[in-house]
Amino acid sequence: MCYAIPGNVKSITGNLITVDYFGEKRKARNDFYNLQVGDYVYAQGGFVVQKIDEKDAEEILDTWKELFFELKKTDARLSRLHNDKPHLDKDFLKIINRATYGKSISHQEALRLLLSTDSDEKEVLFKSANFVRQKFLDNACCVHGIIEFSNICRCQCEYCGIQSSNINLKRFSLKPGEIINVVADAVIRFGFKGIVLQSGEDLSYSSEELLDLIKMIRKKFPVFLFLSVGEREEEFYRKAYEAGAKGVLFRFETSDENLYAKLHPDSSLQERVRYLKFFKDVGYLIATGGLIGLPGQKAESIIDDFLFAKELGCDMYSFGPFIPHIDTSLADDHAPDIEYVLKALSVLRLIDSSGKILVTTALETLHTQARRRALLSGANSIMLNLTPKEYAGLYDIYPRSSTVDSSVEEQVRNAQQLLKEIGRAPTDLGI
Ligand code: 5AD
Repeated sequence: MCYAIPGNVKSITGNLITVDYFGEKRKARNDFYNLQVGDYVYAQGGFVVQKIDEKDAEEILDTWKELFFELKKTDARLSRLHNDKPHLDKDFLKIINRATYGKSISHQEALRLLLSTDSDEKEVLFKSANFVRQKFLDNACCVHGIIEFSNICRCQCEYCGIQSSNINLKRFSLKPGEIINVVADAVIRFGFKGIVLQSGEDLSYSSEELLDLIKMIRKKFPVFLFLSVGEREEEFYRKAYEAGAKGVLFRFETSDENLYAKLHPDSSLQERVRYLKFFKDVGYLIATGGLIGLPGQKAESIIDDFLFAKELGCDMYSFGPFIPHIDTSLADDHAPDIEYVLKALSVLRLIDSSGKILVTTALETLHTQARRRALLSGANSIMLNLTPKEYAGLYDIYPRSSTVDSSVEEQVRNAQQLLKEIGRAPTDLGI
């Protein structure tokens, strides 16, 4: 089941190592293990998460060998560029051509692409984003798992179904032992190498409890841990990093100050951004982003968000559509069209040729083919839901029944099948 490829350590400089995957070299940080050149490791998110026995590694590599090159071929075929449509608008093509050479595009140019309504232009935009992804990042694809461990939240974000005032929602919170069991299953049975621990802003989960949980997970399992627990004391985040959580998923939601203030009575954009800068300073990998298609959000503002996330030094972009929730004040608003969100992700890829771009679960609720289409429009990372079925439906940030019904086994099978079909490999993208 395990969808990850071990790499061979080629060089070591302090805590920075070079890892080889069938001749492809990637950099990774090693904070946890005593390594020597020739050792075999699993890396995730640019961090070494496990050292493995040579014999085991060689056996696994043997099963991957043929498939690895097969996948590359498939990806190369699917990411070929076809923008030989002579009737296309010259300005549009000029922007696309520059972007496909890895040149930066301006706010205005990005906006021109996002606002395009011509179906040929759209096709060229998607394909160009896929081309750029392949050119700069090859066929590597991260597969992370997310555990939503509590839907208790002190915040009142206007779009969110688990907002504190929602009295229609049954609240739950998994005990640390239950979370450990989910992690054990994910890592041992299914081979996950990266896990996000997410919850509402639930302060009944004390910092001590969370720190013990992180330590326990890191002690027992070779896994890269992302925290997504919202605004907590800085001291907690410093200690959590030391305890072994090396990533934070924390969206700024929108970089439009007025819109932010309207939607978030409990926080300010300034405070949100201060946190992100602080996480970066501590050393965390940051996954950040926002909502696409919020009521009152302008297309200009979405481009601002992309440029802002890049400027922050975002390691993984997490931008997904706004989906109205019936128990919120935005119940009568509409989710954006899937084509619009795909265009936005493609533009993001042209803005940052080498960042990781996540296909969010929110996007997956818009269409059964959304994951495939997003991966073919610039994205290169997916997230599977590990929350136990009896709770997943209660983590009701937006209506998403279709994506929380299937078992982990089924999700893993579907993901593997899709990645195989479109030629993506689980090599680590490195740093
Ligand atoms: N639609 C889409 N995404 C939402 N989130 C919360 N509510 C919604 C919604 N209605 C997202 C927020 C938050 C993440 C955990 O879930 O962006 O950061």
